[in-house]
Amino acid sequence: MKALSHKPVVLITGASNGIGLATAERLAKEGFTVIATARSPENSPKLLTLAKEYQNLLVKKLDVTDSEENIRSLVQSISKIDILINNAGMGIVGVAESFSVSQIQEIIATNVIGVVKVTNSVLPLMREQNSGVIITISSIVGPLPDMRQCFYSGSKAMVEHYTAQLKNDLKDAGYNITVANIHPGPVVTNFERAVTIGERFNKEENPYSQMDADVSKWRTLMRNGRPVSETVDMILNVIHAENPQFWNPTESRVYENFAEVYRDPTGERFAKGPLFTQN
Ligand SMILES: NC(=O)c1ccc[n+]([C@@H]2O[C@H](COP(=O)([O-])OP(=O)(O)OC[C@H]3O[C@@H](n4cnc5c(N)ncnc54)[C@H](OP(=O)(O)O)[C@@H]3O)[C@@H](O)[C@H]2O)c1
Repeated sequence: MKALSHKPVVLITGASNGIGLATAERLAKEGFTVIATARSPENSPKLLTLAKEYQNLLVKKLDVTDSEENIRSLVQSISKIDILINNAGMGIVGVAESFSVSQIQEIIATNVIGVVKVTNSVLPLMREQNSGVIITISSIVGPLPDMRQCFYSGSKAMVEHYTAQLKNDLKDAGYNITVANIHPGPVVTNFERAVTIGERFNKEENPYSQMDADVSKWRTLMRNGRPVSETVDMILNVIHAENPQFWNPTESRVYENFAEVYRDPTGERFAKGPLFTQN
C-alpha cells in the first residue's frame, strides 16, 4: 500500500481463531492499529489476551451474518479503515446430495453475503478517503473446484467473481482502492474441526459408500496443511506491496494432487495451472 501519514487501521473479520487471529497478532506487532472482530469475542481467550498485550489491538463483536444495518453501524463507529481483511469463513464437506438447504444457506450467508455486507459497509469510507486495501481470504478451491466440497469451493468462486468485478469497477471509476485475494491451500487452523458435514443421510442410509472415506481423506489433507504463518506472510506481502496482484496462491503443492482432489484423472481440465502463469 502507499505510505500513509498515520499508522494504518486494519479491520479483520473472524479474528477469534486461525488465520484471522494470527494476522491480528502479526499486524499488532508491526504497529498497525488493529480492529480484531469476532462473533463471540468472549469465547476467544487468545484474542482477549492479545488485546491485553497490545494497546493498538481493539476487539469488537461482529457476526458477518448479522443485518446490514448492524454491520454498517459497527463500521461507522470506527470512522477510519485503511485495510479490510475479509477472513471469516466456514467449510462444508460431503457428497453433493448430502447437503441440506439450510447448510447451503448458512455457508453462502457466511462466506459470500458476509463478505459483501462487510465490504459494502467499508467502501463508502474508502471511497471518501480515496484509498484503501481490501483483502479477501478466498481459497485455492475458489478458482479450482474441489469435488468433495462443492458448496465451499462454490462460495469461494462467488467471492472470486465478486471481488474481481469490484476491483475493475473501482479502477474504472478512478478510485485508488486495491482489491486482492489470498488463495491458501490446506492450512492447519480450527477449520478442519469446525467443518460442517453434509447432514441429509445418516450412516446406515447413506447411498454413497465413498462419503466417509472422502471426508476422512479431506481431514487428513487439512491436518497435514501448511502452518498458518505462511498465509499471514502472504497477507503481509500484499499489504506492503505497492501494486499487489489480485491472485495470491500461497503454495503450488496443491497442484500435485489435482487428479485426485479435482476428480480430473485425465489432467485435461486444469493442466496449465492458470494461477501460476500470471504475473
Ligand atoms: N484452513 C484452511 O485450510 C483454509 C484454506 C483456504 C482458505 N481458508 C479460509 O480462511 C479463512 C479463515 O479460516 P481458518 O482456516 O482460519 O479457520 P478457523 O480457524 O475455523 O477460523 C474461522 C474464523 O471465522 C469465524 N467465523 C465463522 N463464521 C463467522 C461469522 N458468521 N461471523 C464472524 N466470524 C465468523 C470463526 O469464528 P468462531 O471462532 O466464532 O467460529 C473463526 O474466527 C476462511 O475464510 C477460510 O475459508 C482456510
